[in-house]
Amino acid sequence: MSQIEWVEETEQMTDSSLRSKAVLNLESGVSGNSVRSAPQTQIRRLIWKIALATFLLMAIGSATRVMNAGLACPDWPLCYGTLFPGQQMNLQVFLEWFHRLDAALIGISTLALVGLAWWHRRALPTWTPWMATLALGLILFQGVLGGLTVTELLRFDIVTAHLGTALLFFTTLLIMGVWLLPDTLPFKGTGTTGRLPWVSLTAAILVYLQSLSGGLVGSRWALHQCLWGSQLCSVMNTHLAGVVPASVATIAVVVLAWRTPALQASLRQLANVVGGLLVLQVLLGIATFRLHLQVELVTVCHQAVGAALLGTLVCFTVLALRDRQLHRLQSAD
Ligand code: HEM
Repeated sequence: MSQIEWVEETEQMTDSSLRSKAVLNLESGVSGNSVRSAPQTQIRRLIWKIALATFLLMAIGSATRVMNAGLACPDWPLCYGTLFPGQQMNLQVFLEWFHRLDAALIGISTLALVGLAWWHRRALPTWTPWMATLALGLILFQGVLGGLTVTELLRFDIVTAHLGTALLFFTTLLIMGVWLLPDTLPFKGTGTTGRLPWVSLTAAILVYLQSLSGGLVGSRWALHQCLWGSQLCSVMNTHLAGVVPASVATIAVVVLAWRTPALQASLRQLANVVGGLLVLQVLLGIATFRLHLQVELVTVCHQAVGAALLGTLVCFTVLALRDRQLHRLQSAD
């Protein structure tokens, strides 16, 4: 049944409670008959593509920083006054140039997402065009911060805000992407998630704050300054101390997920992924620290796995909330 037919059928429903439930299902992205509109599928796929490109862009951004390529293009938005600095091209110029190119493509894709979301708003949950517009606002702000990192010569607070805004943009896309997932997934709301959504939300917030503190360590070269000049050790130690609450909350998600009977398989699998990413992230952090940042790839992986850990916790939280909502709707049947 197409979405339009479903909406028309809903509108012809005489029984007001049936009608309001059908509309409620549409609002919450849960269409009891698991039919997703074609625009919704198109938009969801675009969101996941932008999310993947953003994940890669953050890793390229970290590589640009650890390879000292942040100022490889001395001007902005062009690089050496051109769109393609062929003559000056080397690894550092390429990293900075490609970082900007990918960012521009993500900006244009987000603009298309907003256009599509408002154009098809009748076939989408009402929150979709608003969340898409929020994502556009974040990527525009991110662009301004990107320019300021160059004009303000990599000022640490701007570089850290640049990482923080990138993670917020990434998170916004993931929330939309998971909430718009089709019901073809084994989605029978179990109603067993209990406190899980709030525990994983807390873990996500603590991992986000830990990533910001990591961005401060990186943008101030605090590890170097601490090891060779006993400067900024407090910045480094804050990051080391921040490992504890972020890890405890993340481990609580894994333990609670395993101790929750009849939890949806997809939530249990995601909890395992979260556990694995945390172990990997701490090991990469220790390696980054012990190798004194000499192996750039390790530091870049530390940033990327940190983003993946945050992303997975966000997906877990949204899926757990959807489970709860689905259960409420299905038990109302
Ligand atoms: C939940 C755990 C952790 C998270 C989410 C996390 C996240 C991050 C992030 C996002 C960065 C910035 C990377 C960049 O901008 O390129 C960073 C930097 C850093 N992290 Fe972690 N981290 C964690 C644990 C650790 C641990 C356990 C250690 C060491 C024992 C560590 C040591 C470092 C160091 C030395 C840097 C600075 C890298 C640089 O200067 O380029 N981290 N962290």
